Amino acid sequence: MKGIVLAGGLGSRLKPLTKVTNKHLLPVYDQPMIYYPIQTLINAGIDDIMIVTGGNSAGDFLKLLGNGKDFGLKHLNYAYQEGEGGIADALSLVEHFADDNPICVVLGDNIIEGSIRQAAEDYRHQKTGAKILLKKVHDPQRFGVPELDGDRVLQIEEKPENPKSDYAVIGIYFYSSDVFDVIKTLEPSGRGELEITDVNNHYINRNAMTWTELEGWWSDAGTFESLLHATNLVAKTGANKITDAAAR
Ligand code: DAU
Repeated sequence: MKGIVLAGGLGSRLKPLTKVTNKHLLPVYDQPMIYYPIQTLINAGIDDIMIVTGGNSAGDFLKLLGNGKDFGLKHLNYAYQEGEGGIADALSLVEHFADDNPICVVLGDNIIEGSIRQAAEDYRHQKTGAKILLKKVHDPQRFGVPELDGDRVLQIEEKPENPKSDYAVIGIYFYSSDVFDVIKTLEPSGRGELEITDVNNHYINRNAMTWTELEGWWSDAGTFESLLHATNLVAKTGANKITDAAAR
């Protein structure tokens, strides 16, 4: 399985912090934000990784991450997203890299306490379709929200005013290589983006979606409140981060 970190977009909700730099280079406690999703993939046993970036300071990712030595990697791959076409638009750029392999996609501003190793293992056995991870939250309106019927996801709504559950779809997704054909069928949403929720609903409609609940805390870091929240969580309890002194 190959790993993807999506770190494009303009980080508009964090202006002026993102006026001259990229959201994913901002600190979350003692490490740059982008370190956490990379480590999430590595902890799941995924070491063939592509970073998709864009917007401000795209070149700084190369300076910061290089070939991934601080993470114990021999090589890192990079792609550049022009503009802010949405999460699914950024994902479309990795088709060549994925090369017909299953992929695990982590949003660059999603930080978790624990590991997704078991979910990755389950998806390796699932082989086809897609898999999402859910987490109970107090503010589902901010996220993709699933409507559930027991073990089945009936649909996902993006930032609904009246959420049909108190779960959020977190920014870690497993897809088979047909995801790129799905993305080619998408139309931009009201906010002008190709939505990952539309990709996920496609798999749900095909009866090809599974889900599991994430253990441990999860936070995004794309708003002032969530960036502070994520920073405090990491400071208090640690996250799945690198401890190698070489990273400092
Ligand atoms: O954090 C989980 C949520 O992430 C999900 O529950 C939502 O369903 C999903 O749509 C997404 O919501 P956000 O509106 O919070 O996503 P945001 O625009 O903040 O983008 C999240 C990351 O995706 C961002 O840190 C980098 C990447 N991204 C985003 C856009 C819009 C890109 O690489 N390119 C882009 O054009």
